[in-house]
Amino acid sequence: MRLLVLGGTQFLSRAVAAEAVRRGHDVVCANRGQSGTVPPGVTTVRWDRDQPAPAELTDGDPYDAVVDVARTPSHVRRALAAVPNAHWVFVSTISVYADHGDPAGPGEGRLLPEVTEDLDPMASLENYGGMKVACERLVLEAVPSAAVVRPGLIVGPGDPSGRFAYWARRSTATGDVLAPGRPQDLVQVVDVRDLAAWVVGLAEHRAGGTYDGIAPERPFADLLAACLPDARLVWVDQEFLQAEGVEPWSGPDSIPLWLPRPEYDGMLAHDAGPALEAGLEPRPVDATTRDTRAWLDADPAARITGITTEREAELLARWRAQP
Ligand SMILES: NC(=O)c1ccc[n+]([C@@H]2O[C@H](COP(=O)([O-])OP(=O)(O)OC[C@H]3O[C@@H](n4cnc5c(N)ncnc54)[C@H](OP(=O)(O)O)[C@@H]3O)[C@@H](O)[C@H]2O)c1
Repeated sequence: MRLLVLGGTQFLSRAVAAEAVRRGHDVVCANRGQSGTVPPGVTTVRWDRDQPAPAELTDGDPYDAVVDVARTPSHVRRALAAVPNAHWVFVSTISVYADHGDPAGPGEGRLLPEVTEDLDPMASLENYGGMKVACERLVLEAVPSAAVVRPGLIVGPGDPSGRFAYWARRSTATGDVLAPGRPQDLVQVVDVRDLAAWVVGLAEHRAGGTYDGIAPERPFADLLAACLPDARLVWVDQEFLQAEGVEPWSGPDSIPLWLPRPEYDGMLAHDAGPALEAGLEPRPVDATTRDTRAWLDADPAARITGITTEREAELLARWRAQP
């Protein structure tokens, strides 16, 4: 297969390109070269997608499939116009759903209103999710047989967000570790390499359909037990954390993977069944933890987000000192 990966210089799109090369495909990555490096074995075409597609992108042999991770509608429009005859796999997000509160997940849930302009996707969840809704529609209008994959939290080596790395860093802890929220709160993740392998398979088979791209949900306590097998988890409730100014999900003051409940009871409780039936094969989370930890140890530039271990110890001390 001749595969065009739009991106390829970081995390998921890079893993897609690497997996396609590993399977013997002819892979072209189009990017600006700003986010990192492409994996060995691919051909790079420089393209800033704010500009028209360069001739170099379209002059060679035709592409069998395109994998796109864009957040910006005009980027998707330009790519569809430049490569009109390929199969498409579009990587979207579960942030397209309007409601994250239903503990059973969104099902066939309502989507956010479309945002068709090029806004800043990082400015708000409405921008990001709404722009992805518009991108999905553009792809499906142009290529009705396209696959649309909506990942949940993507984890594993090379994650620029540093969220799962917070837990991987603590994976060898033997003492007390602050566990946020309630042990039974549902969480789910997907390893970037499993997602990439599935995306390449969808391209190979010219498969279509819209899927949530995520491994099955499980109680937070199970996931942390797999990530931190020797730690003693101390569950600290969300009211205490909120009163202490700890942020959910991501950022320097956050505890990653922790979400405010009940507003986000459904965010990490999507039905993985259709993706599993369509070929997603999630590896055990302890394997992801081990490899993420190895990446942290090997790469000084690897990012971790979240509170420091000193702040965690202070919080635990204050939690225990409560009446
Ligand atoms: N991380 C998560 O937990 C999560 C969860 C749900 C969904 N997702 C989705 O999963 C995908 C992740 O993709 P990713 O890991 O590959 O990271 P990404 O940040 O979405 O990908 C950026 C890629 O696109 C390229 N790019 C960005 N702007 C460009 C421009 N103007 N012109 C040309 N290329 C441009 C970048 O290359 P250069 O900068 O080098 O040009 C890079 O290779 C996204 O679709 C995201 O929305 C992520």
